[in-house]
Amino acid sequence: MTLQIKNFKQYQKEYARSVKNPEQFWHDQALSFYWRKPWKKVVEWDFKGPDVKWFIGGKLNITENCLDRHLAERGDKVALLWEPNEADGKTKSYTYRQLHAEVCKTANALKANGIGKGDRVIFYMPMVPELAIGVLACARIGAVHSVVFAGFSAQALADRVNDATAKMIICSDFNKRGKKNIPVKKVVDDAMAMGCPSVETVLCHQNTGQEVDWNPEIDKWWHEELKGRRTSCKPTIMDSEDMLFILYTSGSTGKPKGVVHTCGGYMVYTCYSFRNVFQYQEDDIYWCTADIGWITGHSYIVYGPLLAGATTVMFEGVPTYPDAGRFWEICDKLKVNQFYTAPTAIRALMARGDEYVEKYDLSTLKVLGTVGEPINAEAWHWYDEKVGKGRCPIVDTWWQTETGGIMITPIPNVTETPPTFATLPLPGIQPCLVDKDGNEIAGNDVEGLLCIKFPWPSMIRTTYGDHERCRNVYFSAFENKYFTGDGARRNKDGMYRIIGRVDDVINVSGHRIGTAEVENAINEHDNVVESAVVGYPHDIKGQGIYAYIITNENVTDEEAFRKEVLQVVTREIGPIAKPDMIQVVPGLPKTRSGKIMRRILRKIAEGDVSKLGDVSTLLNPEVVEQIKIGALVELKE
Ligand code: PRX
Repeated sequence: MTLQIKNFKQYQKEYARSVKNPEQFWHDQALSFYWRKPWKKVVEWDFKGPDVKWFIGGKLNITENCLDRHLAERGDKVALLWEPNEADGKTKSYTYRQLHAEVCKTANALKANGIGKGDRVIFYMPMVPELAIGVLACARIGAVHSVVFAGFSAQALADRVNDATAKMIICSDFNKRGKKNIPVKKVVDDAMAMGCPSVETVLCHQNTGQEVDWNPEIDKWWHEELKGRRTSCKPTIMDSEDMLFILYTSGSTGKPKGVVHTCGGYMVYTCYSFRNVFQYQEDDIYWCTADIGWITGHSYIVYGPLLAGATTVMFEGVPTYPDAGRFWEICDKLKVNQFYTAPTAIRALMARGDEYVEKYDLSTLKVLGTVGEPINAEAWHWYDEKVGKGRCPIVDTWWQTETGGIMITPIPNVTETPPTFATLPLPGIQPCLVDKDGNEIAGNDVEGLLCIKFPWPSMIRTTYGDHERCRNVYFSAFENKYFTGDGARRNKDGMYRIIGRVDDVINVSGHRIGTAEVENAINEHDNVVESAVVGYPHDIKGQGIYAYIITNENVTDEEAFRKEVLQVVTREIGPIAKPDMIQVVPGLPKTRSGKIMRRILRKIAEGDVSKLGDVSTLLNPEVVEQIKIGALVELKE
């Protein structure tokens, strides 16, 4: 197993070693895995391309490391604990041996359906064990999985299926989320009807058993395809740099891009970071509440924990069903030791009152984690006092879909944990702050744009089908640096505090949403002339979505129009991208070259209309006054 850092001196030593000799450092970490063939060279990199390769020449299969490798030592240990949506439902568990058998059976079923190395498989499923099993089954046979969060619309799903030219979609009949039963297969049918010519098979897992439409030429039942399959399956041997998965994420322009992660480096880094950030001990129960549709679920529900031989919990439901005590009830029932969630969930539960958390025995908790967005001091303290009872270190973990694993974070009982600080980089990670011209900002007590100046094993390799886009977005802003899109502060002790996105990306409840994407969706409404979308502070979601819309003269009933806009956005992207505020405006503030002045729109959305700066250079300064008046009315409503 990879090293676990136990004290601050050791952290400093390991960190210094990782910077001085990264090759040796990562060589040492990689040795604890099972490789079919060792690597010839640890790393080769060029950020101009970008062209980054780790563990060159190494051959492996990540599922041999997640499953087979553990069978001798911990075959009967629980690998996956699944908690259903209904509080009175039955917890399911899979030992490493059982999980291995299920993954092999599924892999054999995929093979029998024509899936092989390099083929792309899209998942559109709830948080049921079959999702984790399916993902691992793909990895077993070298197929590339791409999990699409099941809250996205048919249109968004079709876009991703087509971008990935996926051969198969794996879905469920219905999703259970709280009181709702969501017709997931129907969304897949709608996506197929929009045109997904590459898809040969839709494999449907029976989750609720409710009736679904069926196309016998394409649709197949998961349980029927698995029937009688062998419980062993030879792993396909992959190159370190073969693709493991694609995960779509939003950026500041255009459609979501497919972030590509590869096998070797991702394996080494997710295991290393998991073991250190959560200080997992052999008999611990670890729970990350994320959805596997996001990177957090990939790296810290599935791969990281299984690579480390951990017991990982997967929860089907929502934090507020049947009531706001559900998370804590599960922690109590399963005796959870490490708990990892998002600030938005903490804020939502905090708002419901302390009685829900006080009802349960949380004495098994040792480490609390947060991820996805900045955590405000109030939520941090509530988490610390009410959940952790002041005795569990909080790890505020900063990272991204593109980084594959946690980058800046405290290590429990090793690093000081000042509230709202992600604190220090893990060994192997070399962050820096730069000014807008790309000059590195030295020293402490400074603020700037967060970049990473040396490669790490689980970093993004490309954006699927469009390498130039990868270069443009991440590697062209500053020479020889990966640009994160975040702004950060480094305090007098050298600790990092993440401020938030500096580009046109909004972080809503820890989910990344591109303003351009939402604008494109809104513009699909026939009566929209132009729109501009910005983020604004929101008590629970962190950021909310504020849309300014110019309509044509056909809009007579503004209230009805707003509802239609919400429907259009739900149809084009999904409910998570629905604006929280919609203001119909007579115009948008523009520069003389026609660029929308988002800075002004952001200020108005924040309710901060006193200091808008100089607007005289605008093409249409009068429009600012009109928007201000409209906004004040809007915010009072
Ligand atoms: O702005 C940062 C924010 O989430 C962005 C990455 O989003 P995504 O790729 O969806 O991955 C989220 C889960 C890893 C970052 O650019 N972010 C993530 N973690 C933190 C954070 N902001 C502040 N503090 C964090 N701990």
